[in-house]
Amino acid sequence: MCSDVFRLALVRFRALRAATLACAFCFASLTWQAPARAEEPPVSLAECAACHGADGVGRDEEIPNLAGQHERYLYTQLQAFKSGKRPHKEMRYESRHLSDQEMQALARYYAQLAR
Ligand code: HEC
Repeated sequence: MCSDVFRLALVRFRALRAATLACAFCFASLTWQAPARAEEPPVSLAECAACHGADGVGRDEEIPNLAGQHERYLYTQLQAFKSGKRPHKEMRYESRHLSDQEMQALARYYAQLAR
């Protein structure tokens, strides 16, 4: 009798824990997909995300936030990095291989994210 109650409690606990885990996972995937639903992220985003995040928030104090910035501004900065007009070692390297279309897509993606 006593062990039955114990077993029941254990089963309940396990179910609850599984539900909590499932919930947390669900929530994580929902928040992760939020920007993707608004606009398909460009293919090259993975590279930028290492520093600027897929959410457009800089991963370090020296990395600027891009989320919600004007699309035109982001695009012209990428061009300036590529041409060397705006000198910056890392961004020069990052923008070197980007085509005009990719720059536009990245600028559009980061501009439509919530700040
Ligand atoms: C290694 C880290 C790193 C990666 C990867 C990276 N960036 Fe940057 N990015 C920076 C830093 C640092 C700055 C600030 C540059 C400066 O101080 O002038 C910057 C600046 C920028 C700016 C100008 C922002 C502003 O407010 O003026 C844009 C736009 C930008 N990055 C877009 C991108 C895109 C798009 C990618 C992917 C192709 C990318 N970055 C990849 C580190 C990175």
